This record gives sequence, C-alpha cells and structure tokens, in this order.
Amino acid sequence: MTPLISSRSAALGGTTGVPGDKSISHRSLILGALAVGETTISGLLEGEDVLRTADAMAALGAEVGRDGGVWHVHGVGIGGLTEPDRVIDVGNSGTGARLIAGVLATHGFMSVITGDASLVRRPMARVTTPLARMGADFVTRSGDRLPMAIRGTDRAVPIAYRLPVPSAQVKSAILLAGLNTAGRTVVVEDTPTRDHSERMLRHFGAEVSIDRHEDGGEMIAITGQPELTARSLEIPGDISSAAFAVVAALIRPGSDVTLTGVGINPRRIGLIETLREMGGQIDIVNGREACGEPVADLHIRGSTLRGVTVPAERAPSMIDEYPVLAVAASCAEGATRMEGIGELRVKESDRIALTAEGLAACGVAVEADAETMTVTGSGQVPRGAAAVRTALDHRIAMSFLVLGTATVEPVAIDDGAPIDTSFPGFADLMNGLGASIASDRR
Ligand code: S3P
Repeated sequence: MTPLISSRSAALGGTTGVPGDKSISHRSLILGALAVGETTISGLLEGEDVLRTADAMAALGAEVGRDGGVWHVHGVGIGGLTEPDRVIDVGNSGTGARLIAGVLATHGFMSVITGDASLVRRPMARVTTPLARMGADFVTRSGDRLPMAIRGTDRAVPIAYRLPVPSAQVKSAILLAGLNTAGRTVVVEDTPTRDHSERMLRHFGAEVSIDRHEDGGEMIAITGQPELTARSLEIPGDISSAAFAVVAALIRPGSDVTLTGVGINPRRIGLIETLREMGGQIDIVNGREACGEPVADLHIRGSTLRGVTVPAERAPSMIDEYPVLAVAASCAEGATRMEGIGELRVKESDRIALTAEGLAACGVAVEADAETMTVTGSGQVPRGAAAVRTALDHRIAMSFLVLGTATVEPVAIDDGAPIDTSFPGFADLMNGLGASIASDRR
C-alpha cells in the first residue's frame, strides 16, 4: 500500500504533456502483433495495464521490445499467433482481458486469461456470449468471471450482433475476432462508443464500413482475413488522464494550465463538453492528427463552476471521467445530476459507491441510486479532512487527490499504487503544475 495525501495548493500553472492514451496503446500493440512486419510505436502508455498487453502479445508469439522511447512489435499476421505456454495475466485491465479474449476466440488453440483482485470480480459474459456464437468455447468462474479458459476456433462464423450495453470493449472484442473470420462480422451499437478500434483497424489496412442500421443505430462491419500492414504510430495523450489536471486547474482560482498533444476524439470529450457547460474555461487549440486520431492542446483557466444535468446519452463519451467530474461538481454551486451511469458499478470498482462514500467523508452532499448520482456543491470548496478508500481503483485515487488540491483540509487516500496502471508519474506531473501531493506518513 502507498498512502498519499493531497493538500490545498496555490493556483496551478504551466505547460505539460500527459501520458499516452490507454485505449489506443492497447490497440496498437494488439494490431501490431497481428500485422505483417515491424510496427513502431512512440508515446505508448507505459502503465501497468498496457505493459501486460505487451507481455500477452509476446506470450502469443509476437516479438515485442523497447528501444529508447520507441516500442517495436514484429507481428505474425492474422491467425498467426501461437498457443501460450503460460497463463495470460492482464492485471487490472478490463480492456486487456476483453480485447485479447476477442483475438483468442478466433485462434485455434487453448489459453487462460486471469487478472488482479479487482478484475476477477468484473463481468465477462458480455464478451463470451457473442464470441461463443462465433464458435469459441469458454470456461469461466461462477458469475462469468475470470480466470477464464478459451478454446478458440480457426473456423469462426461471422455474426451480426447488437450490443446490449454500450461498450467499446465488447465492440472491439467482436471486431478483433472478426479479423480472423471469413466474411463480414457486424456490430450494431445504439449509443456511439469510442471508435479507436475502427480507426486503427483502417489505419492498418483492414476494411471497416460504418453505416446506419435499418433498425436504428450504427452498424460497423469488418471484412475478415485482410492483410494488416505494419505501421509507424504516434499515440496521442490520454484525455482520461488529462481530465485530472483539467479539473484541478478549474477548481483552483487563478490557475492557467496548458496540456499539449491530447487526443480529442469526439467520442471521448464528453467531460470537456460538460465542464464547459458548468462554466469551465477550456480552449481547444492547435488541432492536428496522429495515427488517424484528432489531437490538440487544452488551455484551462481557474473558473467558477455551476451544477448541470449530464444526460445519459453522453455517458459513453466520458465513462471514465465521472469520478473526477463529481470532484468538479463538489466545488461548483448547485446540483450536478449524472444520469444513466449504471456501468460505473462494474468498472475497476463500483465507482458510484466509492465516489459517493469518499465525497460524503469530505463533507460533500451526494446522493446515488443504481443509475444516477447527484452531487450538490455550495459554491465553496468542501471541507476535506478525510481518508478515502480507493479499492484498487486508479481513477478513484487520482480523483480524490485532485479534490485535496482545493479542499480546506487535506484529503488522504489509502493506496496510490494502482495509479501506475494508467498514469505513471501522476503525482510528479501534478506537483510540477503546483499541486501538493505527498506520501502520507501519518
Ligand atoms: C475502454 C472502454 C471503456 C472504458 C475503458 C477503456 C476501451 O470500457 O471504461 O477504460 O479501451 O475500449 P467499456 O467499453 O466497457 O465501457
């Protein structure tokens, strides 16, 4: 355990980049392993989650290495992965587990995936149900949980599948399985989710079509067994990591922070939209492109925030940002109502429960039910003076450290170690902007 404590800071200031996008980093390693030849990746997120995916690709027969700051993946071609001689442990990563399950479903060998104490509690039926229809066999623990054994198939059948929950992980698992499936594999989504897989599949040369479905929703179709061409990739900064510095700058009056090279995929910027509606001064400047993704700099100034209602349709575009939005809301004036966020209950932790518990301990008025959370701020910063339980959840940990930069009294968290899963160097980066996050030796 690495207890940390965050104390009120002066205005934040400065210019910095943020670590590479976690979602795009996972996908770059997986598609690199399935392409023919050498893919190079700069700006890869070197967080625990992504390093586990790199290790998994190596266990499956791709050559994966790092030279200076650049990663090299010698891919084996679609269908070319080989049976691993060890269990694939993806650590804390739901994305790793579900995307790799998709790949393994259409490779004709046996493998086992497991994860850490948080991940083995999370549901896997959402991927095993469609992947079993394609012809793979799964054996899971009770409740469809990890560890999970997979017997993949070399003769997969293409499916057309409407997502029962809006989930980019499930969509991506099916599309990745579709890579080694003759014919067209189709996923239909009623609510748009992040499209990094579609963008990167196209970038590597796969044929991916996107159309309206006649019964509504968006229909994504992949034509199986293409030849993927190795690419040279530059990973954009992760907007979900930038989110912590954005909120910290907004809630400290007088702050002026610029975050450079951040991915601003339209399906990921729900938090920015929401914070702007709350009165947050955030400018998106210097737009450009990297590996088929839009990238820009974010310029944030300390702002007076007011509560808003965040509609359910926006949830997928900011699904990982609700805990830190709740922190912003606790410093705003009035109620911020977050609707349709039930998926938060099956993330690295039950994020509704933990966010509500931590905010209440810091003196914030918060109400939650199965699908909704309402945080009511007084327009003054909250009291703080609490030790917050984080249950192995990196984003809960970072969110409460951000809250502590503003509260009257410090906010402590029980364990900062999981932060490395997505944001190595978080405390140093935040302290470089003027925050005061330290190890808690009390
Ligand atoms: C991710 C999708 C989201 C998100 C996760 C990363 C991805 O999960 O919460 O951190 O990379 O596809 P769901 O698609 O399950 O909502």
